[in-house]
Amino acid sequence: MSNVQPAGSAETRESVDFDIHAPEYAERTTGYEAQVRSKCPVAWTESYGGHWLISGHHAVGAGLRDRNRFTAEKYIDENGQLKGGITIPTAEGYRALPNESDPPEWDGYRKLVSRPFSPLAVDERRDRIAEFADEVIDHMIEAGEADFVMQVGSPVTALITLDILGLPLADWRFYAERIHQTFSGVPGGGESEAGIPGIQKRLSETIAARRAQPETGVLDDLIASDIDGRPTTDEEVKDLIYDILVGGFDTTAGLMAGALRYLQDKPEIKARLVDDTDFLRTATEEFLRWVSPAVGLAKSATQDFELEGQSIKAGDKMWFMYRAANWDPAEFDDPAEPDLERSPNRHYAFGAGIHRCLGSNLARAIFQTVVPRFLERIPDYTVDADNTHNYAFACVNAGFSELRIRYTPGRKVRSERILEAL
Ligand code: HEM
Repeated sequence: MSNVQPAGSAETRESVDFDIHAPEYAERTTGYEAQVRSKCPVAWTESYGGHWLISGHHAVGAGLRDRNRFTAEKYIDENGQLKGGITIPTAEGYRALPNESDPPEWDGYRKLVSRPFSPLAVDERRDRIAEFADEVIDHMIEAGEADFVMQVGSPVTALITLDILGLPLADWRFYAERIHQTFSGVPGGGESEAGIPGIQKRLSETIAARRAQPETGVLDDLIASDIDGRPTTDEEVKDLIYDILVGGFDTTAGLMAGALRYLQDKPEIKARLVDDTDFLRTATEEFLRWVSPAVGLAKSATQDFELEGQSIKAGDKMWFMYRAANWDPAEFDDPAEPDLERSPNRHYAFGAGIHRCLGSNLARAIFQTVVPRFLERIPDYTVDADNTHNYAFACVNAGFSELRIRYTPGRKVRSERILEAL
């Protein structure tokens, strides 16, 4: 599987046979990653024209924190090929901002969207998050069975995010289903008008309508704002909003779903998560590490440099494997076993460096509000394993295309509905 040769040329690379899109990866996940990481934390694969696999905890942190050595932009190379970006192969047709921009442009974009997701702004929204949690649970609690992903985790995250941005709440399903199809690997979901292009179109229409007839909200602020002394374009606003929706929905839903699947037969731990906020906090970090909803994303080297003894060349694509780093035994004792009081817990579930997650405060607040409420109201749920399926598309996000649960029906708690139907 690997060979070590003298440093300094392409032939010297530590090489592994690893395909990030192989069905084998979707089936073996962390085992497949462990095999690569144990061979070399920075290894080369010939797949997709050749790219690096950065899987060790130290290597992922060191590589992502050096903002001068990589680009996240898409670009056309000397052969006229589309290169760069955060996916492998490079995806055509859309841009996620600030994710696919570099400094100094990145600084301007990130500043535009930072405030609504700051710790203070998220703290001020905690009551509203609780309202959405109760609302969403009300919609499913009487039925006795549900798909946790599309009936709780995804809608609650989507509604909260749309509410913050000032986008119509009634559109939650339009966006959430397309994002879910894209990440879960439902055939056609990502490419067709039903998938990402549909989201792009709906966002463009909404932004054009709001530019013509402004309301009040984050979206309207973005439309009215300046960047580098000029007004933002509709395209930039779309790319910024798109990144927030795509970055947040299935990751946060996947985190909650992963935690609930683990907890189903652990009544003492469930009760403690409801009653003990300090425990809830350390458990959140451990579920982030253990579930690692963001599995991997790419950057491209802009200069030659050494990482863990490997010679990375300008133009080389690097696949940063957050989950592999989070399961690295060199950093975490017994990484496959959740230790809900683990401390320290220096995970890279939110990435590292300049592109570190914009929504980390929000994701934590959603988890810490929705999970205890859910456990309090539906303590006896069981997971229907026959109707629970991991994503088929496994290299970017970890989650379930469906997580079916059964439980004793309960009562609604809200006297008014935010939405008549979900
Ligand atoms: C558990 C939930 C989440 C996880 C695990 C997660 C993970 C990540 C990771 C690993 C990155 C780094 C990407 C890179 O290196 O290119 C990232 C960036 C980002 N995330 Fe999250 N995310 C979560 C929730 C959210 C939420 C709720 C939002 C909504 C605001 C969000 C918005 C973003 C954006 C906009 C970026 C790009 C930041 C930049 O390029 O400056 N994420 N996220």
